[in-house]
Amino acid sequence: MFRRLHEPASTVTVFVDDAPLRVAAGETVAAALLGAGIAVFRAAPRHGGPRGPYCMIGNCYDCLLEIDGMPYRQGCLTTVAEGMRIHRPMEHEEPK
Ligand code: FES
Repeated sequence: MFRRLHEPASTVTVFVDDAPLRVAAGETVAAALLGAGIAVFRAAPRHGGPRGPYCMIGNCYDCLLEIDGMPYRQGCLTTVAEGMRIHRPMEHEEPK
């Protein structure tokens, strides 16, 4: 769906559902995951359907993820960081 136009100058490693993923330093979590071919970020609470980023500017809240243990973080407004742990809630899960 998405592809990079050029290789990033520097990268960091994040963990998506415990799997390591090298992404471009300085990009948002949503852009990093979409660039890696990950378009489904969570399941909708009511019907369980797949949800993923839509607006990429903080308005739709379809990019919610658990990031470094904090639930309901907007992936499109959060910059990746070395060692960041990203969890995609695929069932309705109460925050820990
Ligand atoms: S993609 Fe819409 S709020 Fe993040």
